Amino acid sequence: MKLDSTISAVVTGGASGLGEATVRALVARGVKVAIFDLDRQADRGAALEKELGVTFCAVNVTSDAEVDAGFVKARAANGQERILVNCAGTGNAAKTASRDRNTGEIKHFPLAHFDMIIQINLIGTFRCIAKSAAGMLTLEPLPDGDRGAIVNTASVAAEDGQMGQAAYSASKGGVVGMTLPIARDLASEGIRVNTILPGIFNTPLMNAAPPQVKEALAASVPFPKRLGNAEEYASLALEMITNGYLNGEDVRLDGSIRMAPR
Ligand SMILES: NC(=O)c1ccc[n+]([C@@H]2O[C@H](COP(=O)([O-])OP(=O)(O)OC[C@H]3O[C@@H](n4cnc5c(N)ncnc54)[C@H](O)[C@@H]3O)[C@@H](O)[C@H]2O)c1
Repeated sequence: MKLDSTISAVVTGGASGLGEATVRALVARGVKVAIFDLDRQADRGAALEKELGVTFCAVNVTSDAEVDAGFVKARAANGQERILVNCAGTGNAAKTASRDRNTGEIKHFPLAHFDMIIQINLIGTFRCIAKSAAGMLTLEPLPDGDRGAIVNTASVAAEDGQMGQAAYSASKGGVVGMTLPIARDLASEGIRVNTILPGIFNTPLMNAAPPQVKEALAASVPFPKRLGNAEEYASLALEMITNGYLNGEDVRLDGSIRMAPR
């Protein structure tokens, strides 16, 4: 797919971090972009609208109605998208079952918290894919045969999840697991689907960590010994969109890190 101003895109989680870098990279190539992100990111969305000429849609990807309304708004502004990049996501941490060191109290992973992560990271991603792909089917294929391209964001935690990451790893493992069957579902329609498994990236999500934690994380990356930059994620996302032979793949982008148990 050749990127220019005839192409439009939707980027979920596009108001921050990896999604925002992808929005910037797409806009730099002339693509018309709509961002789906939470209402609480509306100020950030308004700033990006002003700076980049993008369209911000207040969308929680766990809501069918909000996702539908988001696509209506995005398509009214930019036309039917040929590109969907799923970056909306979050994590939590709790042991499956554990004993409090001081009190001896035994507790388990709160099921509502487990459910929430699956709803956002896995079902939210699938919801956006299904509704976007249905819209893409109304488009004519481009001269190269591509009708659309979808990029998802999993995590290395899909393959080497750490202690406390049962919910996060399950959600991201689900994203990895569904990549090939979705690519197969959409192959006859000329829509390609690929997934990135980021390692540890320097984004607002990570900035919350204390400096010594970030330094230790950077030192744990074999090479290069640093956190990934969001622009490096965006570069791979754009390659997945423009390289017509890349389909049904899950690609780690991680400086060859393999996460330790904790
Ligand atoms: N930063 C990392 O090291 C890293 C590593 C592996 C995977 N990831 C994944 O990459 C994706 C982006 O992470 P990031 O580091 O850019 O984080 P980030 O917090 O900077 O950005 C995530 C964005 O998603 C939005 N979001 C969260 N829940 C949402 C919902 N229900 N509906 C709509 N939008 C929602 C947030 O408001 C935020 O703007 C996430 O899926 C994350 O799990 C990040």
